[in-house]
Amino acid sequence: MTAPGDSPRSVVVTGSNGTVGVAVVGRLAAEKVTVTALDAQVTASAADTYGIRQVAADVTDEAAVTAALHGADAVVHLAAIPHPTLGSARQVFTNNTNATFTVLAAAAAAGIRRAVIASSINASGVNLNPGLLLPAYFPIDENLPADIADAYSLSKAVDEMTAAMAFRAWGINVIALRLPLVRPLAALPEFVTQAAANPAEMVRTGWAYLAAEDAAAAVWAALRVPVPGSHVIGLSAADTLLATPSEELLDRYAPGVPRRRRFAGNGALVATTRAQALLSFYPRYSVHEMSENAAETGRSRPEPVSPEALQQSVRPMNTTPPELL
Ligand SMILES: NC(=O)c1ccc[n+]([C@@H]2O[C@H](COP(=O)([O-])OP(=O)(O)OC[C@H]3O[C@@H](n4cnc5c(N)ncnc54)[C@H](O)[C@@H]3O)[C@@H](O)[C@H]2O)c1
Repeated sequence: MTAPGDSPRSVVVTGSNGTVGVAVVGRLAAEKVTVTALDAQVTASAADTYGIRQVAADVTDEAAVTAALHGADAVVHLAAIPHPTLGSARQVFTNNTNATFTVLAAAAAAGIRRAVIASSINASGVNLNPGLLLPAYFPIDENLPADIADAYSLSKAVDEMTAAMAFRAWGINVIALRLPLVRPLAALPEFVTQAAANPAEMVRTGWAYLAAEDAAAAVWAALRVPVPGSHVIGLSAADTLLATPSEELLDRYAPGVPRRRRFAGNGALVATTRAQALLSFYPRYSVHEMSENAAETGRSRPEPVSPEALQQSVRPMNTTPPELL
């Protein structure tokens, strides 16, 4: 088994046939990791492209998950119904939360000490709340007060709690990545068009997005980071989907919402302080430049890191917070 900080050699990826899963499998294969791709649907995926092991199974099937995990160093759990409209409320909630519990319990029982799971910007519930709430403040961060009114958001909030419990009870280190809208870079321009046509629609996520290539890079960073505990980490591209300056957008669509800092240009309205501090992760791709350049142009400059930013992470007793090491 790998210790935190070692690169895993063998990783199980659940939800491997999905939007995020295809990018993650591709990245892990490029890193020469032995990948087992686990999904209810295993056709036409990156698994075929990279000739890796595929397992067609339901992730709520404990025996199938346990068998797939045999010999693995780490698990990346992405399988979920990713929107409240894609099933009944009961299906969405039970599938997603059962899947996460099953995967983390089986991984811990198999002696695996590293898991990365997909949470969502929706874990706060604000975005999908029919009450048309706005976030309590900008930038949106991991401590944003929750106001959950749909089964998908609830499932992601529960998944984060499951991760914390799994660490406390079983000692498995879990990083829960709060993903915003994720699509391959090439597919993102149509979302820019949509967002520009009706900017008010995405104000509650701060018009946030992340290229799937960057999501895969964040997963790879999370698999190798020498940080014990259970951590929720927000992610975003360095900019928003819109070219309009972020301050102007907030003046227009969220004028009463407190801003905790000023935003330069069309800079992201999701705080990525924790991703920087814990994962040393900086997004590389921008839909506005369609190339690997955000890091080079300096638009993803680190924000100041405060110990409070990490307050909600669950760490082992007697472990010095990583930012103080
Ligand atoms: N893509 C986004 O914009 C986005 C944003 C926020 C969070 N997320 C989260 O990221 C993860 C991946 O999302 P995605 O966009 O790739 O979704 P997707 O729908 O493209 O892929 C999900 C995959 O999981 C599989 N799956 C679902 N339930 C399963 C089960 N019980 N057993 C086996 N396989 C199962 C599906 O077959 C599918 O291939 C999800 O957890 C989602 O909630 C995605």
